[in-house]
Amino acid sequence: MKTLTITRPDDCHLHVRNGEILKTVLPHTARQFARAIIMPNLKPPVTTVAQALAYRNEILHAVPEGISFEPLMTLYLTAATTINAIKLAADSEHIHAFKLYPAGATTNSDAGVADITKIYPLLAALEKYNLPLLIHGEVTEDNCDIFDRERVFIERYLLEITANFPALRIVLEHLTTKEAVEFVESAGEKIAATITPQHLLFNRNAILAGGIKPHYYCLPILKRETHRLALVKAATSGNPKFFLGTDSAPHLTYLKENNCGCAGCYSAFAALELYAEAFEKADALDKLEGFSSFYGSDFYNLPRNTETVTLEKCDWIVPANYAEITPLKAGESLHWKIQNVIDI
Ligand code: NCD
Ligand code: ZN
Repeated sequence: MKTLTITRPDDCHLHVRNGEILKTVLPHTARQFARAIIMPNLKPPVTTVAQALAYRNEILHAVPEGISFEPLMTLYLTAATTINAIKLAADSEHIHAFKLYPAGATTNSDAGVADITKIYPLLAALEKYNLPLLIHGEVTEDNCDIFDRERVFIERYLLEITANFPALRIVLEHLTTKEAVEFVESAGEKIAATITPQHLLFNRNAILAGGIKPHYYCLPILKRETHRLALVKAATSGNPKFFLGTDSAPHLTYLKENNCGCAGCYSAFAALELYAEAFEKADALDKLEGFSSFYGSDFYNLPRNTETVTLEKCDWIVPANYAEITPLKAGESLHWKIQNVIDI
């Protein structure tokens, strides 16, 4: 049997929600990943250290017995964030970054920032206290085509931010375009990026060809094939600026199969398997470990994990649902399977 053993990975971009959904999805992540950067876009958003610590406790309660898992908390940056709040976050061992959502860009982003230039004093404070800024990089104007929103955000905001704050560590989250890859490659060493499994495996035909498939709808939206190829090349290049962040974003099935369906793909149930498939197709399985297990922890100044996980080559069918959540590729086959630490 063909197997692949790598250092236990970290998921550098993850939504686990709270309440019942958290209890369904968190075990899926914890059985694979040692740590995950937890997104703060709850309702209401996680904006204070106290809220993040309470949320961290709720997450830890959902970790199955016998598994070690460390949630790495982030705070939601708003126009009301204070410089003192940034200092307090920097002093907390459990807060690892701030997340910037342009207002209205994606799920639960109403509290996000409407005018990015107005928060420059906050970016200066993040730079000073050496806390990374995680960016959902899309403009939100109605008159900007949804397929152009990432590229325009880079041109309009990101080039200026990186020029003004050269020491600020930035992760451009969930890259979806060739232009974003080129931006990250040519930017300074403080600039890195995450790439999701769905953007490595699918192009926009997956959502729109042969009928609308809402479970492939996430933001930033899947792009055309040329962009997918650029993302695969970046992820499998061995360049440490690109690392694993699933953006697994569970929504109840009826809220995705809806008149106005929510954005987000649920991938945590088989995240590493999905990445292994993408890397194998690119004949680059030897590059999976760096992308999944080294470069993210290096960027966040965390020690690399020491445990290992083993994947085996075998076909299995993705279930139709996990509780009330429809996973990515439901009913279709996957070609790798993780050898469980514990059956869930
Ligand atoms: C995410 C969510 O549902 O929280 N949705 C998504 O489509 N990726 C938010 C986000 O990361 O944009
Ligand atoms: Zn996300």
